[in-house]
Amino acid sequence: MGTKGAVVGEPPPRSALVTGATGFVGSHLAKRLVRDGWSVHAVVRAACEFPESDEMARVHRYLCDGRVESVIDAVAAAKPDVVFHLASLFIAQHQAADVDRLVESNILFGSQLLEAMAQARVACLVNAGTSWQHFHGPDYDPVNLYAATKQAVTDIIRYYVDACGIRCITLKLFDTYGPDDRRRKLLSLLIQAARTGEPLALSPGEQVMDLIFVEDVVEAFLVASGMLLDGCEPAYQDFAVSGGQRVSLRELVKLCEEIMGARIPVNWGARAYRPREVMVPEWFADGLPGWRPRYSLREGLSRVLLPGAA
Ligand SMILES: NC(=O)c1ccc[n+]([C@@H]2O[C@H](COP(=O)([O-])OP(=O)(O)OC[C@H]3O[C@@H](n4cnc5c(N)ncnc54)[C@H](OP(=O)(O)O)[C@@H]3O)[C@@H](O)[C@H]2O)c1
Repeated sequence: MGTKGAVVGEPPPRSALVTGATGFVGSHLAKRLVRDGWSVHAVVRAACEFPESDEMARVHRYLCDGRVESVIDAVAAAKPDVVFHLASLFIAQHQAADVDRLVESNILFGSQLLEAMAQARVACLVNAGTSWQHFHGPDYDPVNLYAATKQAVTDIIRYYVDACGIRCITLKLFDTYGPDDRRRKLLSLLIQAARTGEPLALSPGEQVMDLIFVEDVVEAFLVASGMLLDGCEPAYQDFAVSGGQRVSLRELVKLCEEIMGARIPVNWGARAYRPREVMVPEWFADGLPGWRPRYSLREGLSRVLLPGAA
């Protein structure tokens, strides 16, 4: 990275390459990096819908086409200080037809990225993992095939760390929420039910959730990148990123009703729990040093549920 144009005494601007920049967390991260003055690059698929905003317009895009060469070319051209790897395919309960896509998005693409980083001598990687890699405790114990593929790419990262001088922090996230979420997750469904009065079919609702506001997640990625750029040891580390406030699904709906001042029609028990439902998320690793969530659940939810509260 060149320092041409940098003001004497100020740190040079950093450059980042983000995968998953069209997704929920990745787009929030890319926008924050742009606002903070980073030069931001994204590896995207041709068919993706790139979010439109002034910040996203300043992100340099490189197309990946499934071949390792396209990712090698992208990383060599961007030559970032840090790679943020957030691209992933999430499927809670897979069918046979999902297996190839899960492997392609969560293992193959990640492996291509690591190879590209090794070839371009890009050392710092912040990788997104999931709390679902730990169904019953601190040991690896995947909830589903999605979590197993996230573990597989982590094992591949460990090889590149040992053999190629890459340094990595994996942030294992609990459930995230926030504005501009196109994933049709629970909160959008609750808002829709409140608006339309159409009852929402849910499970009995006793499962406990650990929800974290997306801006806090983005801050955690920045803290992790700072640690890597400062040369933290050991070369591979992973940390849990938790919102710090746990509620059952029933308590969450009650809190949303309170914030919105509206009733949310829910048919509790109309759906069964998933066969491997996470009833209480396990605590499995230390929290990220120097970081803690700034938003309480009530504050974060207000930003999503009350237009104009942000
Ligand atoms: N959000 C959560 O609650 C949560 C919880 C635990 C862990 N995580 C982890 O956090 C990260 C971000 O999650 P998210 O919810 O923001 O994801 P998301 O909204 O589902 O977005 C996924 C992103 O990955 C990209 N992607 C998928 N397959 C790809 C491939 N083969 N090649 C290139 N790009 C590909 C998608 O691109 P297209 O636009 O082309 O589809 C999209 O940009 C993921 O690694 C996820 O496992 C998230």
